[in-house]
Amino acid sequence: MNDVVAVVGAGTMGTGIAQVAALAGHPVLLLDTVPGAADRAVSGIRERVKTLVTRGKIDADPDALDLTAVDSLDALASAGLVIEAIVEDLAVKRRLFADLERAVGPECVLASNTSSLSPTAIAAGLERPGRVLGLHFFNPVPRMRLVELIAGADTAAGLADWTAALVERWGKTVVRAAATPGFIVNRIARPYYAEAWRLYEERAAAPEVIDAVLTGAGGFPMGPFALMDLIGHDVNEAVTRSVWTAFGQDPRFAPSPAQRALVEAGRYGRKSGRGVYGYGPDAPPPEATPAAPRPVPVGEVTFNGAADLHPLLTRSEVDFRVGALSNDTVVLPSGALLVRSTGTPATELVEEHGRTVIVVDRTLDDATATAVAVAPCDGCPEEALDEAIGLLQAAGLVVHVVDDTPGLIVTRTVAMLVNLAVDALQQGVATAADIDTAMRLGAGHPLGPLAWGDRWGAEIVDEILAALQESYGEPRYRRTPLLRRRALTGATLTGGE
Ligand code: NAI
Repeated sequence: MNDVVAVVGAGTMGTGIAQVAALAGHPVLLLDTVPGAADRAVSGIRERVKTLVTRGKIDADPDALDLTAVDSLDALASAGLVIEAIVEDLAVKRRLFADLERAVGPECVLASNTSSLSPTAIAAGLERPGRVLGLHFFNPVPRMRLVELIAGADTAAGLADWTAALVERWGKTVVRAAATPGFIVNRIARPYYAEAWRLYEERAAAPEVIDAVLTGAGGFPMGPFALMDLIGHDVNEAVTRSVWTAFGQDPRFAPSPAQRALVEAGRYGRKSGRGVYGYGPDAPPPEATPAAPRPVPVGEVTFNGAADLHPLLTRSEVDFRVGALSNDTVVLPSGALLVRSTGTPATELVEEHGRTVIVVDRTLDDATATAVAVAPCDGCPEEALDEAIGLLQAAGLVVHVVDDTPGLIVTRTVAMLVNLAVDALQQGVATAADIDTAMRLGAGHPLGPLAWGDRWGAEIVDEILAALQESYGEPRYRRTPLLRRRALTGATLTGGE
């Protein structure tokens, strides 16, 4: 191919893609139907690159960037690669690709930055559908390393490899995804939002608490509500709705009525000044109120196993006069039990154990977690809850008390992320390694969902999901068959040792 890259659509994504291609040394042509839009994009890129150079973020000569705004498809004749980033509308994209085919040479590669359409559908009716593929960049393009590459049914052999090598030279990490709804990231990330909404709709915890627990205990860089306020609820809900519709309204992807209400009220988030949280000079920053300091329990705390809870509690400097170690339950001085969540609500465990039960949420890493959620059973005596909170606070954790909901916050969210990741793996959407890479780089998750599933164990994830399904009686929490198999055989989800 010759070196010229053309970008059609000089909006948010097209401008970012043009910047990255130009910085990689390509002559770049930029085209938009709105008069002046491509010119503005070119000067915007030069300004941004100048700022980046001044701040020492990159080393480049802004004036040497070979960027040209053009105003007709005919001006793209010299392109070796065209990347389309226009409106997300199949009919409009198809028309553009048909026109492009007439404007460019026979060897020119045609890529679409579509976030939801199949490259097979976009290429249908073209004379040379073999040169079409999907190249899904993430916003903001210059900062997000991930690119999902989607080959269509007719994409020529070797074209995906060639394009992946090219985009990797631009400093991106390319993962391969099958042409399925939401590709990798937009499909597997849904529970991060959906479970937060479910907890909110159940009044299990305030949004501030859900955000604080997913960051402090789950290790996610941003809580789901703060993140949706940033993305915009209009955009986020539209993606959820499109994936849900594409999967025949599968309840695992169901949109939230509470989020719908925000969209209908125009409360899109930061960009409209108000979403789940308020923004602007007068709005207080969202902050969760953790449990007040409680007395550290004195007397014998028996780690009745604690293979699981043990690391969380032994971070404490306090000498608890620890008893025997065997599984994942701690006996508090009052006789109440502190139990690691396997999805079953505390109140249901009371019957099983014949004692007061307080459930502790899971974390990304007990050794580094800064917060944790606990859920007391109905009728839990104040003394028992004080003991549990005091013990966890003595271990340096900010403790959030939430309602007795199945799988608390991190436990249920991560179990569903793992479930959908295994589902995508089973359906051949991508390799295990690409799924985990995509979720780390594209969604910012601290650990790929399959690696996370291995960390907790497929058997535990399977147990959590079974408990959620039992509690809610809903197919939303049904387990992916491959997860069940892995749970039964003890094989890993990532395919490693
Ligand atoms: P945008 O609305 O910011 O920009 C689209 C641009 O395309 C506009 O400037 C518009 O004037 C121009 N345009 C429309 N029809 C055209 C045509 N026939 N020929 C030339 N220019 C035309 O949209 P955005 O957000 O940049 O999205 C573009 C594509 O990228 C869509 O397919 C979207 O689904 C996808 N995408 C968007 C992401 C995002 O976060 N915004 C992330 C990943 C993919």
